[in-house]
Amino acid sequence: MTTEIIKTDSDFNEGINKAAAVIRRGGLVIFPTETVYGLGADATSAAAAQAIYAAKGRPSDNPLIIHVAKPEDAEPYAETNEHYYRLAKHFMPGPLTVILPRKDTIPPQTSGGLDTVAVRCPSHPVAHALIAAAGVPIAAPSANISGRPSPTNASDVIADMNGRVDIIIDGGDCEIGLESTIVKLEGSRGILLRPGAITVDALRCVLDEVKIAPAVIGKLADNEKPLSPGMKYRHYAPEAPLVLLDGHPDDVLRFMQNTPKDAVLLCYDEEVPALDGHILLPVGEREDEEAQAHRLFTNLRQADRENAKIIYAHLPSTNGIGLALYNRMLRAAAHTVQYIKSED
Ligand code: TXA
Ligand code: MG
Repeated sequence: MTTEIIKTDSDFNEGINKAAAVIRRGGLVIFPTETVYGLGADATSAAAAQAIYAAKGRPSDNPLIIHVAKPEDAEPYAETNEHYYRLAKHFMPGPLTVILPRKDTIPPQTSGGLDTVAVRCPSHPVAHALIAAAGVPIAAPSANISGRPSPTNASDVIADMNGRVDIIIDGGDCEIGLESTIVKLEGSRGILLRPGAITVDALRCVLDEVKIAPAVIGKLADNEKPLSPGMKYRHYAPEAPLVLLDGHPDDVLRFMQNTPKDAVLLCYDEEVPALDGHILLPVGEREDEEAQAHRLFTNLRQADRENAKIIYAHLPSTNGIGLALYNRMLRAAAHTVQYIKSED
């Protein structure tokens, strides 16, 4: 199929209305959100959900998030409760997804056959306008080919999805760069299934208790059933092996200086001069986890374009949004962490 690429800076309303009409007739539209780009279709249509899985090459037991324009628009589709509205009051619209019991208006195909449904209300003006104009909730996974890093700008979307969808809306760079925080509500308690820009500490200010699902930082045992189906799939992976380096930053820098010249190094901005002569993809300053989150997926895709044989990166901290970065990087590295000892 031919994919139409729409720029939002030209005629905003005309582009949005055209894309909304495509959603209503069961088509596929890629749109920007504040986290990553989403590959959207009518969440109330089983056929549209199946078209999403086909376009991504995604296993159909991996459920989709439904995107609504306002928190209360989830009412016809999910069993909401006061705790959902407390979360909504603090964090919506924004990068938070809440798992609730599913109503029959959402077909099981959208929700990977589960009796729950994931609800998110994005803050990006294009996403908001598109959902409001479509008049139906929009099911949207990240707009990458399954297994690849999520796209955070239009050229990464086009590289994966041109010819596979009806419309791509180019809204520039995504502000956050990592997918939304996912929390499952069980009564007044939450279980963190995927860390994101809404941190665990922030959630704990609103809910009585928030547990972190073991698969967020650990490795699933063979045959272990994950709380979120997405946890079991290889994800975010570049073509070349990624190795995370743990240890004192000075020791890690020394290790990087001694790597072969065809290794790609994801180094801190301030390390660039000390690593002259290597292939470098600076990730941001050491203390700036937000910049590192923003650049991670583009850097992993760039490493592929550099034909990396091996990629080395610092193991991030788990503070604040660092936990989200840590979770994505561990999975991109298939849990390969190398500890660098001090030389003295
Ligand atoms: O930021 C985001 O959340 C982006 C943008 C486009 O909104 N979307 C996104 O969707 O990251 P996706 O499909 O790539 O990741 C959704 C994750 C998957 O790991 C899936 O298994 C999990 O959410 N999920 C969806 N519904 C679920 C449910 N009912 N129970 C548990 N996990 C669920
Ligand atoms: Mg994804």
